[in-house]
Amino acid sequence: MSTVFLNGEYMPKSEATISPDDRGFLLGDGLYEVTPFYEGVPFGFKGHLQRLLRGLCWLRIDYDTSELEAMHRELIVSNGLDSAERSMVYLQITRGAAPRTHYFPDGDVTPTVYAYAKEWSRPADDVWDQGFTAQTVPDRRWSRVDIKTVCLLPNALAFQDAKDAGADDAILVRDGVAIEGAHQNLWGVFGGTVITHPVTGHILPGITRAVVLEEARTAGMKVEERPIQIEELAFADELFFTGTTGEVRPISEVDGRPVGSGGVGEVTRTLSDLFLARVDQAKAAEQVRVS
Ligand SMILES: Cc1ncc(COP(=O)(O)O)c(C=O)c1O
Repeated sequence: MSTVFLNGEYMPKSEATISPDDRGFLLGDGLYEVTPFYEGVPFGFKGHLQRLLRGLCWLRIDYDTSELEAMHRELIVSNGLDSAERSMVYLQITRGAAPRTHYFPDGDVTPTVYAYAKEWSRPADDVWDQGFTAQTVPDRRWSRVDIKTVCLLPNALAFQDAKDAGADDAILVRDGVAIEGAHQNLWGVFGGTVITHPVTGHILPGITRAVVLEEARTAGMKVEERPIQIEELAFADELFFTGTTGEVRPISEVDGRPVGSGGVGEVTRTLSDLFLARVDQAKAAEQVRVS
């Protein structure tokens, strides 16, 4: 039985209950974060926290986040995941329970804070080496997807459309631009230049994206943050996604057509290796911190 965190307390998941008046349930009035852990070491915690703080600010939810890192670590340990190769903590904060109104509730409402931990795994090397398939689908999300709200219905519908078409993932297309995946950021490599959509209201500013951007620049790669037109997908030498539980994920086929010369491109492989090296650095830094 897993141990979860709900409103300041740790408890077996079977004992965790949330009010039917919760605005997260009724209105999608809340945020979430997914923070990865590698052998019990948080990766990119600061970035995840900053994105959450920005979201809390936009939603005008007043919540003190000072204990969040300790809570994340405690959930990993109490679920026996401290030596798991890969695990994560899912955190959700909603405005709380109040009689249903579209406007914010009158008076003080205590936010609902729920978190759980679970293990996840990277695909086997022989699967990763073949790359993954993607299907383009319309991006029907709102224009502030940079806020990580729990309103994921358009993402879920897009992912399902891609799955129904037999693909592993979706590429969301808005106004002729291949924006990002349903739960990952999209990248292309064109004639040696690494390209990804700039941070606007139309993408979720991925923490993995930020790490990979930094690594690409440090490695001396030519990098551009600009929209990728849907027509350009056919000319990409390489395409890949980045995300917390996807890490760097090669795309070998879009809409049934091979990407570049097929398989996993050299730049994608290099960036994946650099990303995994950053994870190793974080683990080494943690060793120093606790010794
Ligand atoms: C729509 C979308 N884009 C990109 C990402 C990748 O963000 P991160 O690297 O922080 O996991 C996510 C993650 O949930 C997402 O939902």
